[in-house]
Amino acid sequence: MTDSTIRPIVIFDTTLRDGEQSPGASMNLTEKMEVAQALVELGVDVIEAGFPIASPGDFEAVREIAKSVRGSVVCGLARCRDADIDRAWEAVRCAEQARIHVFLATSAIHREHKLRMDKDEIIRRAVAGVRRAVGYCSDVEFSPEDAVRTETDFLCQVVEAAIDAGATTVNIPDTVGYATPTQMHQVIHMLRQRVPNIDRAVISVHCHNDLGMAVANALAAVQCGAGQVECTINGIGERAGNSSLEEIVMALRTRKDFYRADTRIVSQRLVPTSRLVASVTGIDVQRNKAIVGRNAFAHEAGIHQDGILKEPTTYEIMRPADVGLTKIDLVLGKHSGRAALADRARTLGYRLDAEQLQTVFEQFKILADKKKEVYDGDIASLIEQQIVAVSELWVLDSYSVKTGTQTTPEVQLSLRRGDEVLSTQMTCGDGPIDAIFLAIEDITGIKVQCNDFRVHSVTVGKDAQGEVTVQLKHEGRLFRGRGISTDSVEASAKAFLNAINRIAAVTDDSE
Ligand code: KIV
Ligand code: ZN
Repeated sequence: MTDSTIRPIVIFDTTLRDGEQSPGASMNLTEKMEVAQALVELGVDVIEAGFPIASPGDFEAVREIAKSVRGSVVCGLARCRDADIDRAWEAVRCAEQARIHVFLATSAIHREHKLRMDKDEIIRRAVAGVRRAVGYCSDVEFSPEDAVRTETDFLCQVVEAAIDAGATTVNIPDTVGYATPTQMHQVIHMLRQRVPNIDRAVISVHCHNDLGMAVANALAAVQCGAGQVECTINGIGERAGNSSLEEIVMALRTRKDFYRADTRIVSQRLVPTSRLVASVTGIDVQRNKAIVGRNAFAHEAGIHQDGILKEPTTYEIMRPADVGLTKIDLVLGKHSGRAALADRARTLGYRLDAEQLQTVFEQFKILADKKKEVYDGDIASLIEQQIVAVSELWVLDSYSVKTGTQTTPEVQLSLRRGDEVLSTQMTCGDGPIDAIFLAIEDITGIKVQCNDFRVHSVTVGKDAQGEVTVQLKHEGRLFRGRGISTDSVEASAKAFLNAINRIAAVTDDSE
């Protein structure tokens, strides 16, 4: 039975918009669609799918998501400008449920230095923007950007005018992550007291994490009556990021007794969604991150382990299974069949269609031949590679490197491009990996700067697979790549090539 004293909180996910603004986190269309589908399964109420005027790619992604999503509102962001709002509507109009989100900065700093507009002009533009959006769509959100640093009288005036113009949600952004929880509480309280038409709109909050207080600030706003929280998976977003969805959701659920509020999020989907977002954005989750970090449910101290064995609630305030963490690390091997793999994938929270399952199964068999025991981490990696696969113009055919101390590596490398095999032989580089990267650049003709290179083992043991991630810079843009193999040099080659294929997909340099 539902408890009528528990307030439902709208979860507005902006992983695909603010989250994508994290440096290096840009996603391609397939990846965005995959994340959008995962957000639907997670049960988010609103998906902010992008900023349609920003680029043709953003527009297309929002439109495709709007066409395919069922069960969540799809929202497009726009400045208070006619062209932005028209474009946002064009992108979301085919959604089952559409929202336009218009924003305009209101703080003195932004008015004077960025917009060069006075207060009257701001109100005039905010009202015009909201009215134009309402002309298209009944679900309109307005954000006074940098609200927390806006003079309180003026903030009340703008919010009242936006609601009068038809905004159904007013979002209070702490754009620069400057607020404290007590202050956030006061701002929401003040708006509820002083804006006469406030009951006609849902109050929302959007908190950035520059001082590490985004989640605390959002929760303080909920405590004071906010009905919507804007957040992102793993807390990604501009600079230090946004409030993390999983932390907001589990804080409300675990401390329902205190907040008297809850969301409709399917919490068992939190860990799989977090893994997916980490994998498509290349932004790893820190080990000690609340809810979804690797250590979030790991108990090290003997006294704690003893307590957990006797009674889990001694040291666990949430059950791992409730956030989608499976504790059984079932080991599969080369004799395991497709049904066992499919079952494991389901338990780990992945949905695979028949074609994806077949590809993952084939890769699993190759891996099981190389490695005696295949763990959950191996399976998750194989699946994630499949889910975020880019169309591969170039495929690694073969390589060999001869190297040693005090010698320049000799590399021989072949890539396949369609039916063609192109090879190169070079003596170059600082080591085997550098030599391979140079050979790939030589064949593909795509020159890059390598900004980041990381390698870690997917599971345990000397035969564990190595996962390599790289971040390459090409013509001012960042591209990531990922490769996995039991041979870490091969994993490096695959990761580099994966990033090169992403570059090739958006440029014609390799022609
Ligand atoms: O941080 C911010 O102010 C924003 C707005 C567009 C809501 O992202
Ligand atoms: Zn933001």
